[in-house]
Amino acid sequence: MIKQEIQQLITDRKAHIGVIGLGYVGLPLIVEFALKEFASTGFEVDEKKTVEINAGSSYIVDVPSNDVKKCVDNGTLTATTDFSKLVKCDVIIICVPTPLRKTKDPDMSYILTAGAEIQKYLRRGQLIILESTTYPGTTDEVLQPMFEEKGFKIDEDFLLAFSPERVDPGNPQFQTHNIPKVVGGCSKDSTETAALLYGQIVDQVHPVSSARVAEAAKLWENTFRAINIGMANEMAKVCNALGIDSWEVVSAAATKPFGFMPFYPGPGIGGHCIPLDPHYLSWKARQHGFDSKFISLAEQINSTMPNYVVELATEALNNDKKAVNGSKVLILGVAYKKDIDDMRESPALSIIDLLRADGAEVSYHDPFVEEVTFDHAYTIGDGEPLKNRELTDELISSSDCVIICTEHSDVDYARVCELAPLVVDTRNALTNGLREASKARVVRL
Ligand SMILES: NC(=O)c1ccc[n+]([C@@H]2O[C@H](COP(=O)([O-])OP(=O)(O)OC[C@H]3O[C@@H](n4cnc5c(N)ncnc54)[C@H](O)[C@@H]3O)[C@@H](O)[C@H]2O)c1
Repeated sequence: MIKQEIQQLITDRKAHIGVIGLGYVGLPLIVEFALKEFASTGFEVDEKKTVEINAGSSYIVDVPSNDVKKCVDNGTLTATTDFSKLVKCDVIIICVPTPLRKTKDPDMSYILTAGAEIQKYLRRGQLIILESTTYPGTTDEVLQPMFEEKGFKIDEDFLLAFSPERVDPGNPQFQTHNIPKVVGGCSKDSTETAALLYGQIVDQVHPVSSARVAEAAKLWENTFRAINIGMANEMAKVCNALGIDSWEVVSAAATKPFGFMPFYPGPGIGGHCIPLDPHYLSWKARQHGFDSKFISLAEQINSTMPNYVVELATEALNNDKKAVNGSKVLILGVAYKKDIDDMRESPALSIIDLLRADGAEVSYHDPFVEEVTFDHAYTIGDGEPLKNRELTDELISSSDCVIICTEHSDVDYARVCELAPLVVDTRNALTNGLREASKARVVRL
């Protein structure tokens, strides 16, 4: 039985761990295994990332370079672009991207490419785990047949499981080791062995009855977030129409100790997960004749928030007898969330696109992002790239409008309120005290 063989290797810490895809998910994961002294090899298509890791340096904010260096120096961590080394791995974990196609259908090409590499080098006695977020059925409908095609049998030759990644980049309180891990295998042996593996690096493992349950659990979590953020955005618009402060309303509602969980409005949703994952679920539901109305409605509300923010800015400029066309607009924060450098799907990019289409002269300041380009898939426009501007007094005071899109901690908001004529705050970044003392007119979402 390969279950016993692999489990023995895991408990003896002799299992060689392979992680395919060393991004926001794969790098923290492999470093966690390497810190626990498992020999670990990271597989990447981006050679620059392998060079950085092998030089002992980290390109992910949450992963300290010290940890990478320690693991590289003691020989537990290496990174490579040579997939033939998969053959020496006892465990292979797939952490590749799962984007959407232009049609908003799942783009499975990265999982298929990683699966094909594993298939090529598959040997008896390997545990394969998919961590990339995907629709229910991917692990047993797509990956399992690829390995069986080679004449290998589950439980006799290989084990296969899905375990969703829940990492929250930029969250110092919850990191890989203290976020409970859900694990569902394509067989009982697979579930038990994958659970044993994650038990080596995380405090709590929650096994479920199948890979499909684990896949669906991840999509349930992120669909819950997308829908609740959509609801908060809708409530903010309702409050605005009624002349009530939405932030005061939500913080009052949040004092209820049961039955309420606060979600906050904002300029739209971003990142590689919340805007995308619900589409994986609705796509799969459609294959089974079910139309998920909640998902479509939340998507429609969230994806049009940048337009709403531009409307607020336009109205505020109009009150100052200014047109958007020709106005200088300074965007504070272009990353999709606070204190990280990730710009994927960031609503700030759509806001910049929309303002530039209306003729505004847009600049930005973000301590985490040196340059913004518009020739990629995340934005609607294809304008000139923008470079991060230093937040000088001159930049603030010469702007007709400052829009806070991301509330990074390392920004002097008091100075902004002192020097700017107009601030549109989409994140409630300005405290009551700051707003009361502000010389700038402040408009909030
Ligand atoms: N970023 C998050 O916060 C987060 C949280 C939970 C789940 N997820 C999910 O985890 C998965 C990975 O997301 P991410 O944010 O780490 O993406 P990422 O883009 O940061 O990293 C993916 C890495 O995979 C590499 N890659 C692509 N194809 C490859 C291949 N065939 N072989 C080897 N490497 C390959 C890329 O070069 C990149 O470095 C996605 O499914 C995502 O939805 C992400």
